[in-house]
Amino acid sequence: MAQVGKDIDLAISLLESDELVGIPTETVYGLAGNALSESAILKIYSAKNRPKFDPLIAHTYSIDAIHELVKHIPSKALKLAENLWPGPLTLLLEKSEEIPDLLTSGLPRVAIRIPNHPLTLKLLKKLSFPLAAPSANPFGYVSPVEAEHVNEQLGDKINYILDGGKCAVGLESTIVGFEGEDPVVHRLGGIAIEELEKIVGKAKIETNNSSNPAAPGMLKSHYSPGRKLIIGDIAVNAEKYKDKRIGIISLSEDYSHLAVTNFILSQAGDLEEAASNLFRALRQMDNPKLDLILTEEVPNIGIGLAINDRLNRAAV
Ligand code: TXA
Ligand code: MG
Repeated sequence: MAQVGKDIDLAISLLESDELVGIPTETVYGLAGNALSESAILKIYSAKNRPKFDPLIAHTYSIDAIHELVKHIPSKALKLAENLWPGPLTLLLEKSEEIPDLLTSGLPRVAIRIPNHPLTLKLLKKLSFPLAAPSANPFGYVSPVEAEHVNEQLGDKINYILDGGKCAVGLESTIVGFEGEDPVVHRLGGIAIEELEKIVGKAKIETNNSSNPAAPGMLKSHYSPGRKLIIGDIAVNAEKYKDKRIGIISLSEDYSHLAVTNFILSQAGDLEEAASNLFRALRQMDNPKLDLILTEEVPNIGIGLAINDRLNRAAV
């Protein structure tokens, strides 16, 4: 198991020696290493068992620090950055020579974000390099939203996890690229489309799957909780599968009388609260006492789109 704590100096000395550290962000925990070091990047791919065609996000602490990592920032990208960073937004920008091809899987753009977590911002400010950090889960599994989740799955592969408590947003960042000046959303996430569009106007959404070369990591099947997940009318499906040991993830209704276990995402039906609980719920349902998981889509507004996206990928 990895050591867990708040020792930034220890994290710095590990990262400076190309070792990996689990770091908190407002979205999910990241598995961090020096984004400019091929040796650290290789360790990340290997610890996650992640294919090298799936590039990593570089994290830094200020827009100024980004200028040397990219060739050009479209004006709408700058507007988004100024309004939403630090925050759950990742921008795809044309990379400079500084960025190793291994980080971007040979693609011409690099994914960059400034995360909104005090401990990690402090860490990033003290480092002389950006941090590559994919979500700190084995490839294909649910992303971690607590330090303990990282330790459960990657604890034997890393030395240290910075403990920043529970992730406030609980879903990964929204990824936005640009066709010329026009924004294109490649992954739904913590920043709602409505919020983006208020700042830069209409955005195209292209989030489909692995055949989309702009976002190679958006595989259709992802976030797997380890057993079959069925999306639909919970009461109807509970009747249909009444001979099975059922786990239920519901938005706000109590179905505990129909299930071995029922995780309610938000009693009040609040979508932000539901998002922050979703990965914890999926993880809890990865339980040998269950045969299958029943769940339902939430309203397709705000962060609800990202919740439904993750549910549908977890269901494949
Ligand atoms: O919220 C987040 O973004 C978290 C925290 C730790 O910051 N990170 C995260 O990283 O979700 P990861 O590696 O699990 O997902 C990154 C996604 C992948 O789908 C990857 O394919 C895509 O970003 N991506 C990264 N670099 C890219 C690039 N240059 N072009 C296109 N897609 C890219
Ligand atoms: Mg991930």
